[in-house]
Amino acid sequence: MSEPRLIVALDYPDAAPALTLAERLDPRMARLKVGKELFVAAGPDLVRTLTAHGFQVFLDLKFHDIPNTVAAACRAAARLGVWMLNVHASGGLKMMQAARAALEGLPTRPRLIAVTILTSLGREDLAQVGLDLEPDAQVLRLARLAQAAGLDGVVCSALEAPLLRRELGPDFLLVTPGVRPAGSATDDQQRVLTPAQALQAGADYLVVGRPITQAPDPVAALQRIHDEIRLALGENA
Ligand code: C5P
Repeated sequence: MSEPRLIVALDYPDAAPALTLAERLDPRMARLKVGKELFVAAGPDLVRTLTAHGFQVFLDLKFHDIPNTVAAACRAAARLGVWMLNVHASGGLKMMQAARAALEGLPTRPRLIAVTILTSLGREDLAQVGLDLEPDAQVLRLARLAQAAGLDGVVCSALEAPLLRRELGPDFLLVTPGVRPAGSATDDQQRVLTPAQALQAGADYLVVGRPITQAPDPVAALQRIHDEIRLALGENA
């Protein structure tokens, strides 16, 4: 279990609950995601603490700015020792190329992935910002652009994973949130798959937040997800 495919989203308002959970988890069971809320509240020190505890950290800050600024932000994130970071593909080819180039030559280069279309945006929302097209078509277009820029993969819905896997090949990383263990609450996620279904659909890594962080016993909840995957697929995750 040294390469866990589960990433726990530490969506907490400050460092204390994030550290409490991290202290109870084994880095061989899960990677950790630090997003905007926790990063703004707790800062880079928390990321350094988590990596010092042996965790591989996905810094989910979705950078989107001019190429020079994004490149500098990616370099700063890499210096924190994160395992994965991300940018918005709609920042354009040059921005993504600059981000990728900024990570060259590091002893351990973080994986760099792109967000395509936020899953909170539907057809009407895209039309309002001047994109009069089907969300799936734009997801594929931006994923191809990310691949052309040399990025390692994209964040996507598990429902988009089969198309992206088919179109972008076996080595392009697909990181999927919106997964829910069998029988758990869907919260505000609209279209969910179970962890095993998401892996079967072609996902490489699964981001799971509330089913673990809000569980009475988060470690047991994480273990149950591992067991569910092993039962369905006969493999560890
Ligand atoms: O609690 P839950 O499992 O829904 O958390 C999912 C995590 O993945 C959250 O950190 C959320 O911000 C993130 N995410 C998402 N949908 C996307 C992109 C990121 O749910 N399209």
